[in-house]
Amino acid sequence: MINHVAKITDSISWIGVNDRQKHRFENLWPLERGMAYNSYVIVDEKIAVLDTVERSFLEDYLEKLDEVLAGRPVDYLIVNHMEPDHTGVLREMTERYPDMQLVGNKKTFQFLDNFYCVEGNRLEVKEGDELDLGSRKLMFSMMPMVHWPEVMVTYDHKEQVLFSADAFGSFGALDGGLFDSDFDIPREFESEMRRYYSNIVGKYGAQVQRALKKLSALEIQTICPLHGPVWREKIPYLLDLYDRWSRLEGEAGVVIVYGSMYGHTGKMAERLARRLRENGVTEIKLFDASKTHLSYILQEVWKYEGLIIGSCAYNNAVFPPVADLLSKLEHWGVKNRTVGAFGNYTWSGGGLKGILATFEKLKLEPVGPNVEAQSCMHFAEEVLLDELAVNMAKAVIKEEC
Ligand code: FEO
Repeated sequence: MINHVAKITDSISWIGVNDRQKHRFENLWPLERGMAYNSYVIVDEKIAVLDTVERSFLEDYLEKLDEVLAGRPVDYLIVNHMEPDHTGVLREMTERYPDMQLVGNKKTFQFLDNFYCVEGNRLEVKEGDELDLGSRKLMFSMMPMVHWPEVMVTYDHKEQVLFSADAFGSFGALDGGLFDSDFDIPREFESEMRRYYSNIVGKYGAQVQRALKKLSALEIQTICPLHGPVWREKIPYLLDLYDRWSRLEGEAGVVIVYGSMYGHTGKMAERLARRLRENGVTEIKLFDASKTHLSYILQEVWKYEGLIIGSCAYNNAVFPPVADLLSKLEHWGVKNRTVGAFGNYTWSGGGLKGILATFEKLKLEPVGPNVEAQSCMHFAEEVLLDELAVNMAKAVIKEEC
């Protein structure tokens, strides 16, 4: 039976679930490896539950909760994050435990009223407030926009456990493990962590930086996020990743993304990749934007410093899947990237022009030259693409030279 409770400490239990059914998180981001929704219970003189799970796991969740409670009622339900993947069982909790207090901040309760219209006892908290459970005190700290404006984290002073909401989460179900030590994290989780970060939290790098500064004042033995593994042994590694991702510090490598109807723009991308490698770039990721979901492209954009985008013209504009990427890059405010652009057209431009317009909005200066072919790549464009590859290679591997 997959329905098991896991002990984090003698008094703190994991009662989360693994979702292997849903195809897309937020009905948008692919979940090939599933998703864990983590929830936690602290059993002390008072009992506190920290967040719940997605609604379709109601029955499994309540079974696990009952196992931990052993007949006692829940005193507090702490709502660190209101997004429905964590509040799906909230209404049932208020019905089961009528004396339970819902713990959240002012914004939590605004969202809660709009989503669920539940009655219930409420304890409104603000930055630094504490809640006494008997042998321990929990402290609340606001982390707005990591990932919604009401997000807060809860810190257990006694066991030095941070319940971090979406921060430090990951895509990917937990395949029989729970703790970072149960997995080969770089191999099994790092790319899914980065995909989760870039897709879900990536827009809020400045807020993540503020959160990291706040958290640096705490002694932390364990981090319990709402998705992915629980962290005990690799916390410095985790904090370092979040610091680098939130500053968009790129590794030496280049992502090439192109949109091509009949393969001619694709051939330009292939030439660029070959020339980059000949010029010493060893990490190259090449994507056809029509084939690969944006989720995976963003994950690589977050990893590497170099980004070259190409598009055929499509009705005087950028090819739609590339336009979708450009829109996300703009919306996410991508920075600190060395960029290049190329395009292709037959009777009117639009592809290259649209890419350059996005780079301008993001204040990213292309390394150049910008290359645009007419219908097919000819000798003149081959020369320019080779020059672009040399310039990009020099830019991204400069520190190794
Ligand atoms: Fe896991 Fe922002 O919800």
